[in-house]
Amino acid sequence: MRSSSGVALNRALLVTLSLLQYASGGLGVNSGVSNYSFPDDFIFGVASAAFQIEGAWNEGGKGESMWDTYIHKHPNYTVDRSNGDVAADSYHRFMDDIEMIKSIGVNYYRLSISWPRLLPNGMDNNISQEGMEYYRTLFEELLKANITPVVTLFHWDMPTPLMDLGGWANPKIVDYFEDYARVVFNLYGDIIKMWTTINEPHQQCYNGYGRNYFVPALMSGGVGDYLCTHYTLLSHARVYRMYEKEFKPYQKGQVAITLDAFWAEPKDPKRPEDVRAAEDYLQMHLAIYAHPIYSDVGDYPKFVRERVNNMSIQQGFSRSRLPYFSAEEIKALQGSSDFFALNHYTTFLMTPSLMEPDWEEPSWDQDTGVRMSQNLSWPRPGADWLTVNPPGFRKVINWISDNYRMLKKIPIIITENGMADWGQTDDYERVSYYNEYLNQVLLAMHEDGCNVKGYFSWTLMDDFEWIDGYSVKFGLFKVDFDDPEKKRTPKLSAHSFGNIARTHRIDFDYIKPPLNLNKLLLE
Ligand SMILES: *[C@@H]1O[C@H](CO)[C@@H](O)[C@H](O)[C@H]1NC(C)=O
Ligand SMILES: *[C@@H]1O[C@H](CO)[C@@H](O)[C@H](O)[C@H]1NC(C)=O
Ligand SMILES: *[C@@H]1O[C@H](CO)[C@@H](O)[C@H](O)[C@H]1NC(C)=O
Ligand SMILES: *[C@@H]1O[C@H](CO)[C@@H](O)[C@H](O)[C@H]1NC(C)=O
Ligand SMILES: *[C@@H]1O[C@H](CO)[C@@H](O)[C@H](O)[C@H]1NC(C)=O
Repeated sequence: MRSSSGVALNRALLVTLSLLQYASGGLGVNSGVSNYSFPDDFIFGVASAAFQIEGAWNEGGKGESMWDTYIHKHPNYTVDRSNGDVAADSYHRFMDDIEMIKSIGVNYYRLSISWPRLLPNGMDNNISQEGMEYYRTLFEELLKANITPVVTLFHWDMPTPLMDLGGWANPKIVDYFEDYARVVFNLYGDIIKMWTTINEPHQQCYNGYGRNYFVPALMSGGVGDYLCTHYTLLSHARVYRMYEKEFKPYQKGQVAITLDAFWAEPKDPKRPEDVRAAEDYLQMHLAIYAHPIYSDVGDYPKFVRERVNNMSIQQGFSRSRLPYFSAEEIKALQGSSDFFALNHYTTFLMTPSLMEPDWEEPSWDQDTGVRMSQNLSWPRPGADWLTVNPPGFRKVINWISDNYRMLKKIPIIITENGMADWGQTDDYERVSYYNEYLNQVLLAMHEDGCNVKGYFSWTLMDDFEWIDGYSVKFGLFKVDFDDPEKKRTPKLSAHSFGNIARTHRIDFDYIKPPLNLNKLLLE
């Protein structure tokens, strides 16, 4: 589509890198880290999401998503008063994106389809010809470049007409999501073999339906969030079973749901109440989604069911705020994923609490009964919520492996991991972050026996980060959003991450800060 000169590796930068490597002594014998490597078939990829990069919000017959509609109506919603109208303009510049992925040498790309770009009003009676062709071209160009696309069906951009009917809180969404997914499998299932259905339902339901930190900003705490949870899970199961019956026998792909988890650390590991609080938190955030799918008993976890029922009764409701599954639904959900897709970023410290000033009643927070805090001695490089604690990654991977046995030696694919910066291209903190976090993956695999099969960096390039607009930058590539060409420039981490992906090894000495200022390097 366009020249890709904007992303060619910059010669001066490469020279700088070699000098840095030289200055730090090249391959380090004293780095003190394990010498484990990733197996040959380990998947390395980068990730993105349609609404965060595509732009072209009203081009090519695209309908509106709830993010388009909501932000146009509430321009102050994002911290920088920005919106996703143009974003990184990947709708027009996807050949640049492909060039960037090629330049760092990873060969998987997790990206999402915009539901309203394909089905302008959300339903399958009207399929956009241009939308259809756009994704076909994109996937084919990726394959030509030897990059395997991994496709997310829903990464938060609910078509506005369906949001107007309640979005994930409407029981009929299960049918509409199935219809949409069938269109997608029919169109692209011949070339796409790895799918995730829904991205991070906890963030979507808790922040979007329970609070106003994400669109649709419904503020229906303790009610709307659980309806969202319930029908998201049922929608996922419906699509998994539909694929299994109608497509899997000949398309032979894999389908999973992408769940997110913070690691929950007891605030004081010596206090049993704090240890309990950390476990309660994981039950309410992660197990509420994972247990129905991956446990050998199925259904919501016992703790979650009892807890929400108890609170509902205390609050005078005549029924639980958390809906019940039928026996048939429990069965459809169990085993409805071919692998465990995990997004992980950070760790919080947990201590019990009955009520906090910023909690509503009822709310998921109050049901959970855990006050979260951060360890301020951990680095916080670029987003308030994201402290760097690499060992938490190993712990959450182990927690999943220990708790879920529906799949034998549960295969785990990290579908997102990364950190934010303030816009610099000399992003030493991110270089350290990737090396440290991937080192924890190696430890989980080699020392704990966890079956991790792949890892996707969030994210390929700086993008629209929801309520944070363009103020928070997660990219391996910097995007100049003021430039009409949206020039992309590799950060140091693009080279470092590419190096890990190509060599299948951690190399802490690959890039170090010129002065020993970096507090993120090994303790
Ligand atoms: C690390 O592993 C590589 C490849 O297996 C090997 O050549 C090298 O000697 C090892 N280094 C150390 C310090 O064990
Ligand atoms: C289909 O969607 C397009 C693009 O939004 C719109 O112009 C057209 O009117 C729709 N057709 C039907 C039958 O809904
Ligand atoms: C939006 O922000 C601007 C600038 O801070 C302010 O003047 C305006 O009143 C705000 N509008 C709304 C609807 O909050
Ligand atoms: C729910 O209430 C019952 C009866 O009071 C109590 O035994 C149980 O521990 C409570 N469960 C939770 C998770 O709060
Ligand atoms: C906070 O982190 C520091 C450094 O890793 C550690 O020594 C301390 O125990 C941590 N505190 C808590 C409450 O976890």
